[in-house]
Amino acid sequence: MMTKKIGVFLVVLLGLTAAAAIGGQNKGAKEILIHGGNHGDVLFPHNVHQGVLKDCGACHSLFPQDKNAIQTLQTKGELKKKQVMTQCRNCHKEKKKAGLKTGPTSCKKCHSG
Ligand code: HEC
Ligand code: HEC
Ligand code: HEC
Repeated sequence: MMTKKIGVFLVVLLGLTAAAAIGGQNKGAKEILIHGGNHGDVLFPHNVHQGVLKDCGACHSLFPQDKNAIQTLQTKGELKKKQVMTQCRNCHKEKKKAGLKTGPTSCKKCHSG
């Protein structure tokens, strides 16, 4: 009887550990260089955004949490060029309007080239 209870307890404990491992999901690189065409690549501080925005979907609603997801979708024609950029800029503009700390809105501040 007693051993059975311990067994059940262990199964529950293992389940919780697995759930915690999934909860601590892959957050990706801290900084990502995004292909920016002729205008030059864009150095994107990923972890800064994760900390400030909390919601992964603020960006990943447009593309999955995979390496090179943007270019992969653009090649397939499932994402237009500058579509992600518009998402970046619109949010920066909105935060600026609201008087909050924000990111760049001018071309050269994002595109290194
Ligand atoms: C402000 C926008 C934004 C937010 C918010 C965001 N991401 Fe990302 N994430 C990106 C971009 C841009 C890429 C790069 C895609 C590419 O390389 O084409 C990316 C890539 C990734 C990758 C792929 C691995 C890598 O390093 O390239 C993972 C995993 C990931 N994100 C996880 C997350 C998780 C988890 C969250 C929420 C905690 C999150 N992201 C929030 C923009 C964002
Ligand atoms: C907040 C950062 C940011 C700002 C500001 C910004 N861009 Fe971008 N831009 C990006 C990112 C990220 C991409 C790549 C993803 C995409 O195509 O949506 C990109 C892509 C592009 C592309 C497509 C390149 C290609 O061939 O794939 C062009 C053209 C471009 N930007 C021009 C501009 C111009 C012109 C301005 C100023 C009016 C500007 N960008 C301002 C981040 C920015
Ligand atoms: C939903 C809102 C939102 C989106 C989408 C977003 N950003 Fe930002 N970004 C912010 C905010 C808020 C900050 C200010 C963070 C801080 O320093 O507190 C910021 C800051 C930045 C900074 C300056 C970071 C620093 O350390 O000074 C860069 C560069 C930047 N963003 C690039 C991008 C690019 C490129 C994209 C698109 C791939 C993007 N952002 C998408 C909200 C957003």
